[in-house]
Amino acid sequence: MDKVKLAVIGIGNIGNLHLRNIEHEPKVELVAVCDIVPEKADAAAEKYGVKAYYDSDTLLADKVCDAVIIGTPHYFHTTIGIAALDSGHHVLVEKPISVHKADCERLIAAHERNPEMVFAAMFNQRTDPYYQKIREMVQSGELGTLQRVTWIITNWFRTQAYYDSGGWRATWGGEGGGVLLNQCPHNLDLLQWITGMPVKMHGFCNIGKHHTIEVEDEVTAFMEYSSGCTGLFVTSTGEAPGTNRLEIVGDNGKLVYEGNEITFTRNEVPASEFLRTSPESFARPGTEVETYTFEHHGGQHSEVLENFADAIMSGAALIAPAAEGINSVELANAMLYSSFLGQPVAMPLDGAAYEAKLQELIATSTFKKEVVEQVEADMGKSFN
Ligand SMILES: NC(=O)c1ccc[n+]([C@@H]2O[C@H](COP(=O)([O-])OP(=O)(O)OC[C@H]3O[C@@H](n4cnc5c(N)ncnc54)[C@H](O)[C@@H]3O)[C@@H](O)[C@H]2O)c1
Repeated sequence: MDKVKLAVIGIGNIGNLHLRNIEHEPKVELVAVCDIVPEKADAAAEKYGVKAYYDSDTLLADKVCDAVIIGTPHYFHTTIGIAALDSGHHVLVEKPISVHKADCERLIAAHERNPEMVFAAMFNQRTDPYYQKIREMVQSGELGTLQRVTWIITNWFRTQAYYDSGGWRATWGGEGGGVLLNQCPHNLDLLQWITGMPVKMHGFCNIGKHHTIEVEDEVTAFMEYSSGCTGLFVTSTGEAPGTNRLEIVGDNGKLVYEGNEITFTRNEVPASEFLRTSPESFARPGTEVETYTFEHHGGQHSEVLENFADAIMSGAALIAPAAEGINSVELANAMLYSSFLGQPVAMPLDGAAYEAKLQELIATSTFKKEVVEQVEADMGKSFN
């Protein structure tokens, strides 16, 4: 195989970005596009000179491609992903890989049934050299034992017009969540990629605080890790200008990533040693400051696309194996579940319990009811 024959399913915002990137990627060849809105599929098919499909089952049955990119609303990542893997297609699935943990497990099980298929997730921010550097510094032990990780990621500002632009958006039935499921999968993936998973979560999620929506648009979550490290994750789509500040404190010092610069303030003596051995009451370790900047933020979506092709053609290691996508979904689900219960939840999360809670939210929702009914009809199942 000298090129991967590729189809894009879901020709919306991100599907169109993928189509533009595919044009510039010599290792892939676009052979088909698919959208349940025929005008969208037809327009893309005409523009790129490929075949249009209006449903993914027909596309997969026709065996016209080696691989698919799934850029539909999130619930379909699971159903289309399973169908694609079971019919012998490599899959690059958008984030989040599924809406909830139990669906992630169903999707991952399809890959386990078909391990020869390459199954990747579009966690494009893993290509950013800033996050790669932070991960390396944490995982190499340079920061020492972690004490605290705090991520304030409130620069996801969105208008009401944004939420109104797609019927599926900001509904339990159409999207399965708000900022945690749409904007934050990137940050939650990076968080677990850098620090691993917590063992306890206490989430405080505000539902429709800034927008007329039925899902969360502001979240503060407190986490505990098995090492004793604590975590705080703060996000919002209603705050302007917003902040992106990641602060990780270890025994060896404090790392701050904000505004295109990583600053590491390194303790000359580890904090735990200094506080035990210093004879003085108010002394603190001396420090040295190191800064890191990079000229760009990595290849992003194009780099993940090329890596997907390399994995199919020559077995390259994936930047983001899709199975790892369960972690960001589980973090999001745990924040919401804890918030609904009004108490902390242990992790790993009980996926069945969260799925039941989500189904209850869908069943009792009166918000954009017709949208939920359409999603149910498209999926061929009822949430009630
Ligand atoms: N990686 C990223 O940076 C990034 C950025 C934006 C969106 N996304 C993800 O991409 C997905 C889509 O987001 P979007 O903003 O492009 O949404 P969108 O609403 O603009 O596009 C979704 C498209 O999918 C089509 N569609 C719906 N159901 C379908 C089905 N069953 N089969 C085929 N087509 C179907 C819709 O008609 C629409 O054209 C979401 O899961 C989102 O989280 C990822």
